[in-house]
Amino acid sequence: MIARKIADQMGRGSMIRKMFEEGNRLKALYGADQVYDFSLGNPDLEPPRAVQEALCRLVLDKRPGLHSYMSNAGHESVRQAVAGRYSRLSGLPVTAGQVCMTVGAAGALNNMLKALLDPGDEVILLSPFFFEYLSYIDNHGGVAVEVPCDRDTLLPDLAAIRRALTGRTKAIIINSPNNPSGMIYPEWLLRELDDLLRAQDHVITVLSDEPYAELAYDGNQVPSTLACLSQVVVCTSWSKTLSLPGERIGCLIVSPRCQDHGLLIQAAVYCNRVLGYVNAPALFQRVIEEAIDAKVDISQYEKRRDMLADVLLEAGFKLEKPQGGLYLFPHSPDPDDVAFAAACARHRVLLVPGSGFHFPGYVRLCFAVKESVIQNSAAAFQAIAREYGLC
Ligand SMILES: Cc1ncc(COP(=O)(O)O)c(C=O)c1O
Repeated sequence: MIARKIADQMGRGSMIRKMFEEGNRLKALYGADQVYDFSLGNPDLEPPRAVQEALCRLVLDKRPGLHSYMSNAGHESVRQAVAGRYSRLSGLPVTAGQVCMTVGAAGALNNMLKALLDPGDEVILLSPFFFEYLSYIDNHGGVAVEVPCDRDTLLPDLAAIRRALTGRTKAIIINSPNNPSGMIYPEWLLRELDDLLRAQDHVITVLSDEPYAELAYDGNQVPSTLACLSQVVVCTSWSKTLSLPGERIGCLIVSPRCQDHGLLIQAAVYCNRVLGYVNAPALFQRVIEEAIDAKVDISQYEKRRDMLADVLLEAGFKLEKPQGGLYLFPHSPDPDDVAFAAACARHRVLLVPGSGFHFPGYVRLCFAVKESVIQNSAAAFQAIAREYGLC
């Protein structure tokens, strides 16, 4: 009864979903505290106090229309607050008219892909990438063109991107700090990407998926994509920086330097409506306005990153500490990363094979988990390392 395409896609399933199901099976068998689940990217810190207080105030707010429909772009005052923040971050004069509030970063990406793609238009993805991009591109009739990052640096390979460009290339999705690699794309790389794209004979729009942009460690800064790229739309959310993934609140910002930027934002707002989102959740738009400069205590994530990295390094795994995001991306000691993930599951350690991000030979572990999970997993990692002759 359901569409063949969806039946096929559901049959294949995502590797994260499979790990999730395996995790539930193991937790039922051994008890939740005996399973070391690093598979899901669900931030486990609670939202900052500023968010909770804003929410309490707003729930009791007597102003009429708090829960009403509004412009499809979102409340004007909220968009002003977002524009102000991005003006400060980029040094560019961003206005409320360039901002559209969305249903998470996923909603922002879907709005933009719908706004940009004619059937058969190509979208470049830089592997490793967040696997849902494939569905989002397919949703809007596009064709994904995969370009692997450099295997040594895990940074985008500009020469390979140049080779992948065609007359049908409409967009490129970038994601920094990256899920899953944790790499922050440096400013020089963004500027060279800009030069490369501007040298083409047609417009190619960069969709910069930035939900992890505030999660940078060791004093690293994430360069502003609005400052470094001209034809860019920022697609982002407060899912990770304010620990609000379930509230589905995000936004997109069309750079004032984009060609036809007025038309582009109008199209994005129109797509917000016709995709059925209509507008971003009303109450949480107001929360964002009131807590625009808040963020979770990232020192806690930094500490867990260090703890988990130490556990893995001591066991003999090979990895670079990620500069940002919520994930470690060590080399798989078995070239077959899917087999390695299955072996880890036998030790009740759940992680996601790099193949799930179209980058085999690695595995992804989310460190946004309780410290006790990391501490208690050490013996299991030692046992896995012995099995693979790492120690
Ligand atoms: C790279 C990346 N992009 C987009 C999303 C979706 O974000 P949101 O939940 O805000 O829609 C995620 C969620 O994990 C992600 O990791």
